[in-house]
Amino acid sequence: MAKQLIMPPDDLAARLDYMRKVRMWNADALETRKVYVQTFGCQQNEADSEKYLGMAVDMGYEPTDTPDNADLIIVNTCAIREHAEKKALSIIGQYKHVKAKNKDLIIGVCGCMVAQEHRREELKMKYPYVTFTLGTASLHHLPRVLWEAIESKKRLITADSTEDFTETVAEGMPVRRGSDYRAWVSIMYGCNNFCSYCIVPYVRGRERSRDKADIITEVRKLVSEGYKDITLLGQNVNSYGKGTDTDFADLLAEIDTIEGDFWLRFMTSHPKDASHKLIDVMANGKHIAHQFHLPLQSGSDPVLKAMNRHYDMERYMDSVRYMREKMPDVTITSDIIVGFPGETEEQFEETLKALADVRFDMLYSFIYSPRKGTPAAEKEQVPDVVKGNRFDRLLAAQNEIALSKNQPLVGATLRVLCDGVSKGDESVYSGRTEGNKIVFFKGTSDMIGNFVNVEINKAEAFALWGDIQK
Ligand code: 5AD
Ligand code: SF4
Repeated sequence: MAKQLIMPPDDLAARLDYMRKVRMWNADALETRKVYVQTFGCQQNEADSEKYLGMAVDMGYEPTDTPDNADLIIVNTCAIREHAEKKALSIIGQYKHVKAKNKDLIIGVCGCMVAQEHRREELKMKYPYVTFTLGTASLHHLPRVLWEAIESKKRLITADSTEDFTETVAEGMPVRRGSDYRAWVSIMYGCNNFCSYCIVPYVRGRERSRDKADIITEVRKLVSEGYKDITLLGQNVNSYGKGTDTDFADLLAEIDTIEGDFWLRFMTSHPKDASHKLIDVMANGKHIAHQFHLPLQSGSDPVLKAMNRHYDMERYMDSVRYMREKMPDVTITSDIIVGFPGETEEQFEETLKALADVRFDMLYSFIYSPRKGTPAAEKEQVPDVVKGNRFDRLLAAQNEIALSKNQPLVGATLRVLCDGVSKGDESVYSGRTEGNKIVFFKGTSDMIGNFVNVEINKAEAFALWGDIQK
């Protein structure tokens, strides 16, 4: 049965009306009220936070970079692993002291963590200074929930206040971007894959795609404003447009026709439907970075099956071979989970073998973390010491591979998008290559946000060093 529509339909006009109410309330304040947004987790959350901040600024709040003088704190949480939730809860715990100094402080906890009932209960009982919760599919309801909290002075921590069961795609939200040269563009929301370890489909809801025209308008505007590194975001971008006459490869090809000097990236792609068509579009593209993040998760077929991933090593290697054939300079990165329930020593060794076969440029490795409500959490778990040992061995193997992938770059001149001064030395700047590798070089402040050419003279596993070429 389809879920009942519990929240009233919140159309654009109603949203604008709530925004106006909060704006007027803020206009009456003796001092400008301030907003602080704290983000945990993935790029999708970063993109969401830019919308939270955009809406808050539109409603009359001024951004602040410290929670201590804020009147509105928004904590955008992640639920992917236990550690991420613990970190968010610990930070929220610290806001008790901020609330003690400012009794009018409003604290909203948003994002993936609060879509889980047991976490909402915990916030309700143990964190009495938290005002409201808002799930990811309800982000556009911030003006209404905020206004209700202001007016009623009540706490709004219920399933109804948190989740928009209609799971519609909301457009027209103000965005306050964190950078003026690197931008995130969400193209679809949610996930239907239900990998057996993953909480995302439960907390971000079903897949839904934005309209192609809206996405293209947004990217075109970003390019005209000078953005140089644009990443299309979705939990599973390959599902873009499913059930319509368009698909992700078509969308990418169309965006690629936009005139300008910029890199176009996307994440995340699922190996089960990373098609040759998509790889062809990348290889023939003008702006599409030759970089592919393709999460493998495990190199063992039985583990992939237990994970509900719907591909095997043969399928995965076919994509890798095709990518390298069409784009010899492609950078391939991946995610691996160690210690999935039931993973044997032999199966883990198959993952090590997969690493040696594929030779990833970069790897994000994770220790399996049981997530309440997912099938894998109910299975017999691998002991923590075994998980830790496998994690260390995985890192050691990958370090060697990453180094051997980076060393041949010494002597090459790479195009780098400059980010700014590196930590620790004011004359050393850092930037990213098309393959998203970090490069350090002696630079000047006018380079920030611009492309520069750097001749590489030193390579380590996690970074490259070089000199600016005129
Ligand atoms: N435990 C550990 N890692 C996880 N990931 C997703 N769920 C879990 C979990 N329960 C990892 C996957 C995914 C990345 C974003 O996070 O590797 O690709
Ligand atoms: Fe999680 Fe799998 Fe969906 Fe990725 S594809 S968000 S790992 S369920």
